[in-house]
Amino acid sequence: MLVSQKQSYTSKNSLIRHQMDKLWEHSFASAIGCRWIFQKFGGDPCVAFLAGLLHDIGKLGVLKVIEHIQSQDLMTQEITDKSITDILNGSLHTECGYTLVKAWNLPEPFDVAIRDHHDEPKGEHETLLSAIRLMNVVTDQMGMSVRNSEDACSYSSAEALALGLSEIQIAELEIHIEDSLENMDI
Ligand SMILES: [Fe+2]
Ligand SMILES: [Fe+2]
Repeated sequence: MLVSQKQSYTSKNSLIRHQMDKLWEHSFASAIGCRWIFQKFGGDPCVAFLAGLLHDIGKLGVLKVIEHIQSQDLMTQEITDKSITDILNGSLHTECGYTLVKAWNLPEPFDVAIRDHHDEPKGEHETLLSAIRLMNVVTDQMGMSVRNSEDACSYSSAEALALGLSEIQIAELEIHIEDSLENMDI
């Protein structure tokens, strides 16, 4: 399943491919991190892994649309890495992701994770949403994000606090992600 997911994150267009590489790294690191959090503190780690992997699937959809428009020469102005990043960081990707997940009939909590991961975590899936949001901060900090937010601080984030993760546990989480990425050959 991971291999088939990874194969979706590729493009002949170098600008799009660069964004897809970053998005794959972010999604995969989020999956590993969410699984680690659920393994430590309870909940289904397989669900957490998949939710982390899929939470930004709308960004992949948006990139595929941009790629198609470019390949058909339908762009009225030149698209840059920055303009793609700006598009990806808007709310379009959660709307697009939610449409995709509904078309695929994916059940809860995946639809909620994809739609609500930039909102204040609340409700039945609060822990999962907090884990995904924490991974957004952690991956920003580790340089594995399309958001390029350099002032992210995972240790003092509201999500780390909500999940009850100490500074040492966040450091363990980051080491676990680095090790997992190093040892994964996909
Ligand atoms: Fe997102
Ligand atoms: Fe994300």
